[in-house]
Amino acid sequence: MIAPITGFSKLTKNKKIEWLVDTYFLNDTTAINTLKKYWNSDEALQKLHDEFIENTITNFYLPLGVAPNFLINDQLYAIPMAIEESSVVAAASKAAKFWLTRGGFKATVINTEKVGQVHFMYFGNTEKLKAYFEHIKPQLIEATSHITQNMKKRGGGITEIELRDKTKQLDGYFQLHCTFETVDSMGANFINSCLEQFAKTFESAAKSYGLFSEKEKEIQIVMSILSNYVPNCLVRAEVSCPVSSLTENESIDANEFAEKFVRAIQIAKTEPYRAVTHNKGIMNGIDAVVLATGNDFRAIEAGVHAYASKDGTYSSLTHAEATNGIFKFWIEIPLSLGTVGGLTSLHPLVKIALQMLGKPSAKELMQIVAVAGLAQNFAAIRSLVTTGIQKGHMKMHLINILNQLEASEDEKAYFVNFFKDKTVTHSAVVNAFTAYKKEHAS
Ligand code: MEV
Repeated sequence: MIAPITGFSKLTKNKKIEWLVDTYFLNDTTAINTLKKYWNSDEALQKLHDEFIENTITNFYLPLGVAPNFLINDQLYAIPMAIEESSVVAAASKAAKFWLTRGGFKATVINTEKVGQVHFMYFGNTEKLKAYFEHIKPQLIEATSHITQNMKKRGGGITEIELRDKTKQLDGYFQLHCTFETVDSMGANFINSCLEQFAKTFESAAKSYGLFSEKEKEIQIVMSILSNYVPNCLVRAEVSCPVSSLTENESIDANEFAEKFVRAIQIAKTEPYRAVTHNKGIMNGIDAVVLATGNDFRAIEAGVHAYASKDGTYSSLTHAEATNGIFKFWIEIPLSLGTVGGLTSLHPLVKIALQMLGKPSAKELMQIVAVAGLAQNFAAIRSLVTTGIQKGHMKMHLINILNQLEASEDEKAYFVNFFKDKTVTHSAVVNAFTAYKKEHAS
């Protein structure tokens, strides 16, 4: 059995790797070589990455791709995407090109409200708590002035603090439900700092509030934290065109395509099994841009999926209709994003990604990200209701299979050409490759 290690975080990077190799790789030095191969030769750059997290041993690469030709609100963008799934960037690029000649994407930010909550327990008279809240509210704002000063200068700050009675859900449970405007920053640190200050003031001032009994003075703060559920930090993106111009050279008729497309969306609206995969495809586009621009994709994922269930059933994030000969396809999603602070000013590739997008404001980035999600969903549904997904997907995956088989560059070129008019499956590639190798063995 492996013994636990103490003080691991204090070891140097080399010592950490040594311990891992001793413990888990039977001293196999190829593991060391692989880990070190991913170190950057630029020591300062490597140190920057080492210090992003604790216990860094190496870097973990993801490809950074670009999907060009995105026309959004009459402006052309090349969208950076960090993702490992082979067909995502190709699908986004294809959708961008398709809509480029059909008026492009239109996007609007509906609202930018962020949320944070102080969760606390109070077992006393509710009317007295309400009176205390009204009495203390100006002091809560005042006590955070050192935190909000800069945010206010940028046009943001605390927008509201509300007392919410949650005792029907849990005995004694109340909240300070707070909303914020954080302008171009995602605002997590700002919000959490404000909330922790609210909690301190709220708890301590209760001790000298004259209307409270001794028991009521003992407000118990449980926790103070922002919420990643931001249903009022909302963006909408859409495309539309005459149904008749929906198809190009496809074998499918334009009306039939529109009808099937709309049906596919209706199915994702009513069937959670389908909705999850449907929305996963949307997140392929969203996460890739969120990651490339240094934002927190876990926060986005959590908020978006909660929003997909807002009406009580998990449902499609996109909507479509084809009425009076016009096809319309749109998405409405909550996206709490930042273009300043956090990784945006630290990670050199994030800076490049943001520059590529014309140094967008957080609102502009919300629009771009929503468009990436909509485009990804358009490409997926278009394939699903026409050729099926595997055709394009496996074509993109072909190189991965050839790499697994350790094919040379010449062999890869040969097989890309060979499979041009054939169905790509894992076994078809393995069989064709094995036969080729046998034939060229001598
Ligand atoms: C694969 O990563 C995403 C899709 O499954 C999405 C969808 O089914 O809509 C193709």
